[in-house]
Amino acid sequence: MLEQLKSNNRAWAERMISADAGFFRRLEHQQAPEYLWIGCSDSRVPANEIVGLDPGELFVHRNVANLAPPQDANYLSVLQFAVDVIKVKHVMVVGHYGCGGVAAAVDGQRRGLVDHWLHPIREVAHEHRNTLEAIPEARARLNRLCELNVIRQVRNVASDVFVQDAWARGQTLSVHGWVYSLANGLVNDLNVTVSCLQEIERLG
Ligand code: CO
Repeated sequence: MLEQLKSNNRAWAERMISADAGFFRRLEHQQAPEYLWIGCSDSRVPANEIVGLDPGELFVHRNVANLAPPQDANYLSVLQFAVDVIKVKHVMVVGHYGCGGVAAAVDGQRRGLVDHWLHPIREVAHEHRNTLEAIPEARARLNRLCELNVIRQVRNVASDVFVQDAWARGQTLSVHGWVYSLANGLVNDLNVTVSCLQEIERLG
């Protein structure tokens, strides 16, 4: 199995070089992506492929259920590096419909450590319980929670001090909320983009 992957890798590297001889040499010396992608670890949501970007064009952070928890050192390190050093222009939080992590947060089963990780989603579900309970169909209810989770993570990113300091010094930076559909491969822009401090308020 792994031999197949290594052979795939050699073929891929050769294809890249035949299309552009200097490709790897250029990337070796610096990366200058304009985008930070915060997405789910789900294997069906491959960041670069979905938006047609090459190596070097997308800074990526993925975890279970695309969370941006304000106490998570891993996410914060990525965010600070992206904002302060790389100076990305856009951060997109990208959830996906039918997310197993989001479903697991609210199905009442015990799984261990991940139950703690998913706690912020239960808070979102609790805050929006009236909206969610009014949706009769379980799949549609889950998908709405996937959207509400993305909106909350957009608010987390936009509220972060690294982002707020960037805005205060006049840096151009927008935070977007998208949800990807496994069914048709399309991204749904939730239109919750925040580009300055004042716009956070409209996220509710
Ligand atoms: Co997921």
